[in-house]
Amino acid sequence: MTALTVALVLVVAPAGLLRWRRPAWYWMTFGVTLATLRVLVRYASVMDACGLTVPPSRWRLALARVAGRDVPQSRPPRILRVRPTRTGLVLRLGLRPGQDAFDVAASSDRLRHSFSMYGVTSREVRSGVVEVRMTGYDVLKRVQMPAAVDTRPMLVPVALREDGSVHYRDYRAVPHALTLGATESGKSVYQRNLVAGLAPMDVALVGIDCKQGVELFPLARRFSALADNPDTAAELLDALVSRMEGVYQVIRAEQRITSAIADAEIAADIWDLPEHLRPVPVVVLVDEVAELALATKKSDPRRDRIIKALVRLAQLGRAAGIYLEICGQRFGSELGDGITMLRAQLTGRTAHRVNDETSAKMAFGDISPDAVLAAIQIPAELRGVAIAGDSTGGWHRIRAPHTSLRQAVNICNRHADRTPDLPELAPFRPELTGTAPAVEQLAEAAPVTA
Ligand SMILES: Nc1ncnc2c1ncn2[C@@H]1O[C@H](COP(=O)(O)OP(=O)(O)OP(=O)(O)O)[C@@H](O)[C@H]1O
Ligand SMILES: [Mg+2]
Repeated sequence: MTALTVALVLVVAPAGLLRWRRPAWYWMTFGVTLATLRVLVRYASVMDACGLTVPPSRWRLALARVAGRDVPQSRPPRILRVRPTRTGLVLRLGLRPGQDAFDVAASSDRLRHSFSMYGVTSREVRSGVVEVRMTGYDVLKRVQMPAAVDTRPMLVPVALREDGSVHYRDYRAVPHALTLGATESGKSVYQRNLVAGLAPMDVALVGIDCKQGVELFPLARRFSALADNPDTAAELLDALVSRMEGVYQVIRAEQRITSAIADAEIAADIWDLPEHLRPVPVVVLVDEVAELALATKKSDPRRDRIIKALVRLAQLGRAAGIYLEICGQRFGSELGDGITMLRAQLTGRTAHRVNDETSAKMAFGDISPDAVLAAIQIPAELRGVAIAGDSTGGWHRIRAPHTSLRQAVNICNRHADRTPDLPELAPFRPELTGTAPAVEQLAEAAPVTA
């Protein structure tokens, strides 16, 4: 008896401690087995209690009557697959006749309580099949990105979603994006993660950081061009527009539409060009966009020039491989003409914590009212948590890992040799002699701990 008690204490105490301090480890060691057993054992009764069963069909009733058996019970959706993951469980359910994916989605909260999971979401995989993703703990509390992620050109695994899956920034599917959020909500950390993700890829990075360059200049070794004030930004954006026009000339020259060329081989953007001719794609990161859009006087030619260049890049840049990543606290019509036109071109939307509904509406008002509500509800202490949506109306709660400036500097320095020298942007290439001390100072300020 004593031995049993000791053994029990030796298992339960570490499990409790892990669950409290390291929920991810707890999940991998004990949680996943317990949760799988709980779900499988309680499945039928929970589904019944959640109203997710269907009464027996006529032929089953008739068969039971003929065979003199008891009336058959209502049936829950069929379990097609149970897949334990690093953060939870994924259930594939085959719906019964008369059920729809909305029934399961509407019961997610009840399922969450009934199976004692942290979160439950569902989505339709195909007609009649629904995937229910359950998380065993709050995966956004301490974000750990999985080691295995999809790798494709211009695809950056930038954050974790609340259902435990990876949130990607896919520049080829969603060329331009807008990130909004109140001050100290995590926009720059999100952007830093993007830079760190893009650094090992064949891409030119261009930065406009009107906060005197505090966020992007330490990463200068991986940037092909940087601007830290609106005057330089205006010139830089004009240079990008000229580059875009140059790239279109390259594509035109390569098109050579003759009857001998198959439709699929006619180049319409840089990705259709043969590799030796393909210009390097450019990601333009703009932090604190309001600084660029604010007019100093009633008619401000510099501001109009900047907005015009940004609108042109947003409208025409994709095929030339120029992608915009714009961050700001607000981005609405109060910033003047052209802003709503520019916003309409920024398909990817991410909103960190915002203080008022109007700011959230600037990100999601024209996409999804639910996402507006979710963005306002992000608690102030959960910095970095954001709502990411796209123009299809779908949205997710995400959080990027907390990449410190020092980690990002290290990654950028490691991949500094990948920084392409673009002739059009040569005047804006950052002075590396000026940035090296900054990097060293950072190293002194934050000595390596891990
Ligand atoms: N994903 C995250 N995980 C944990 N902490 C975060 C995360 N993102 C941001 N933070 C914390 O929030 C602080 C502010 O973040 P950040 O500088 O990105 O805010 P911001 O929205 O850019 O603010 P501002 O508008 O003032 O520039 C960071 O110093 C960091 O401590
Ligand atoms: Mg910032």
